Amino acid sequence: MVFWMDTLTRDGTIATIARLHREVRAARAHTDALFSLVAGPTLYKRPIPDRHRLVFYVGHLDAFDWNQLGRGVLDLPSFHPSFDRLFEAGIDPPPGQAPADRPSDWPALDEVYDYVRRARHRLDEAWDELPCERVLVALEHRWMHAETLCYLLHEMPVNMKRAPVAKPSLRPSSPTRRVEDRWIPIATGNTSLGQDKDEFGWDNEFPRHEVRVENFEIARYKVTHREYLRFVAAGGAVPHFWKRSDGGWWLRRMFEDVPLPLDAPVYLTHQQATAYAAWADARVPAEAEWQRAAYGDGERRFPWGDREPDAARANVDFIGWDTLDVNGSPGGATPEGVEQMLGNGWEWTSTPFSGFDGFAVRAYYPGYSANFFDGEHFVLKGGSPRTARQLTRASFRNWFRREYPYAYSTVRLAR
Ligand SMILES: [Fe+2]
Repeated sequence: MVFWMDTLTRDGTIATIARLHREVRAARAHTDALFSLVAGPTLYKRPIPDRHRLVFYVGHLDAFDWNQLGRGVLDLPSFHPSFDRLFEAGIDPPPGQAPADRPSDWPALDEVYDYVRRARHRLDEAWDELPCERVLVALEHRWMHAETLCYLLHEMPVNMKRAPVAKPSLRPSSPTRRVEDRWIPIATGNTSLGQDKDEFGWDNEFPRHEVRVENFEIARYKVTHREYLRFVAAGGAVPHFWKRSDGGWWLRRMFEDVPLPLDAPVYLTHQQATAYAAWADARVPAEAEWQRAAYGDGERRFPWGDREPDAARANVDFIGWDTLDVNGSPGGATPEGVEQMLGNGWEWTSTPFSGFDGFAVRAYYPGYSANFFDGEHFVLKGGSPRTARQLTRASFRNWFRREYPYAYSTVRLAR
């Protein structure tokens, strides 16, 4: 899957940039649909205290594309400099330093949508002049926000969201196999971290390198609600997505609250995952261990092999809004039998987020990763129900603060 090598013929480059244009248009339609899940005035709410109000993201996705591509690559003149700056960058403040702006500090929605329309129009007019790598940066940036927008929308009360019409045929059903606790041995050997230099990736994915991993055991499944419930009964911290009602625990899903689905994975912070692992006499796997369990020595594209993800293999790429049972994707098991290493929830690793040896920032986006190399953010791997197919490559790395409770982040134990 070489997207942008210089060795592509001129015809190949044109075909690729045209394909990327279709993909960017599909991603725009996807994020537009997410904003339309709530009414206009609701877009001025701030569902997560340490993130911007929703209206920021309406402008941000296209301000990013415009700043990166229109101004950065094509050197086009700005048509709205103050919005280019206002919507330029998101925030991730340390605990206790949440922003204090008010709804009235933000421009009216029709002004923001007008900016979005103009930015898209100007980029689309000059599309064929854009280099594929930079377009992929914009495309993947939008897909990442397609997921984090769900984190924001998830925090809005159910009655403030319009659930889209379900597509039942696309929803994987959970089989009735019992979830049996099982440890799977992973033999000592090498694995490959990072991305090939002639493939697309973000700065933190480079350089590709081999790592030796000592033998260890990994859990066949992610930690379930049923398992974590025992920890809560013993005094463990209550997960952010749980809610006490009618004398029992309920799960706050995107569009409804449901009695805790006991065999579904539990969304946890890194702190909760680490505390649970210690209580269960196990630990959170390191990034290289996780990579070896999922991808072996690095020869296969996905945990199960080389075939593209589908509903039988992975709960990813917007098949559903929420998790299914941890044994609900048996077609996606690794050759050793580890299930759901891709999809149904990102998995925490014990590895603090940092650059690989030889890490270099990209001049066009120097802060993408390096701003978070602070020992407070940890690497997550895999993907969630709301992770786009575009981001499911083996080298992709996600990260959040250790105490960030809003992400679709699960854990799988190691020992
Ligand atoms: Fe962003």
